[in-house]
Amino acid sequence: MKIADETLQSIGRALRDGAALAFVHGSLKAGYLEFFPNQPIDRLVDQALDELAASQAAGLDGQQLLGVADRLVKQTFRGGDRSFWFNQVYHRYKTELKPAAEFEQLVGLIAGRRVLDYGCGSGYLANRLAQGGYTVLTTDVLDYRFPEAQHLPFVRLASPAERPYPAGSAETALVQAVLHHVNPPDLPQVIRGLSQMAATVLIKEDTYDLPADLPGLAETLARQPLLRAFLALPRETQFQALVLIDFFANVLAQGVSEMNLPFGFKPVSEWQTLLAANGLPVRRVLPVGFEPGRMHKSCHVWLICGQGLAQGRDA
Ligand SMILES: C[S@@+](CC[C@H](N)C(=O)[O-])C[C@H]1O[C@@H](n2cnc3c(N)ncnc32)[C@H](O)[C@@H]1O
Repeated sequence: MKIADETLQSIGRALRDGAALAFVHGSLKAGYLEFFPNQPIDRLVDQALDELAASQAAGLDGQQLLGVADRLVKQTFRGGDRSFWFNQVYHRYKTELKPAAEFEQLVGLIAGRRVLDYGCGSGYLANRLAQGGYTVLTTDVLDYRFPEAQHLPFVRLASPAERPYPAGSAETALVQAVLHHVNPPDLPQVIRGLSQMAATVLIKEDTYDLPADLPGLAETLARQPLLRAFLALPRETQFQALVLIDFFANVLAQGVSEMNLPFGFKPVSEWQTLLAANGLPVRRVLPVGFEPGRMHKSCHVWLICGQGLAQGRDA
């Protein structure tokens, strides 16, 4: 397994933040317990995080961390072994349950019928959208698409800021959990490319330090104890918790260790400024939070950008 030194240092710093670590023990277990009611998932999460934290207890040590992560992927999560109970449930979640839940959420937000799934990952959502009658384009810098998604048009980006499709190729671009994986210098070009390819751009991001006056936040907070606990943490601790959740979900649980992890999380106001400066004004922010039905819960928001929303749903 190869992980960039800078990434290892960021994860190491997050593991040394006791409050962030304690929050992530709880939030990961809350997510997993919805899907693994009869397996020893609590113990698995606690042991994995304890081992990772122990590797940094004496000081930041990227090589120790890499060794532990490598062992966890191979021995604890048994990456690639479909007969292991964790991977059986995880695969069904990724290919059936998560796409079904996301499809329900998206049909009211997507404008038009031509959709670009930008940073499509395994392609599970693109496939569900195609089954739902949308014409779907996909792209990513990596290619780890499930067989179910391989019939869809796909461009593997040769460079992170390349524009994969001509201007106007889609009516809506979906950019779900992607932008914090893009290196900061590439972001302006990526955003400008998105604004050219689709009139509506739906961006889902893990974020922190949510503004108290965000429309809909009070209702979301009332339903989500995890979101209340998260927002009660100091700002920097919230950021470190996002780092640990991102690392756990992508590298340990999913086993995609080659994913770029610059942990580019930003508060909503910073996204609004950056997106608007590059031709993608944010029209609306929808707080989603630590949603039920998601295995790896995080402080999610939708940023609805560009010219418009599906009929009847714009604020
Ligand atoms: C956390 S995964 C999310 C995948 C999928 N959108 C989902 O919601 O499950 C982030 C994805 O963004 C991709 N990615 C990172 N940088 C990118 C870039 N510059 N352009 C396109 N995709 C990128 C990664 O390879 C990865 O597949």
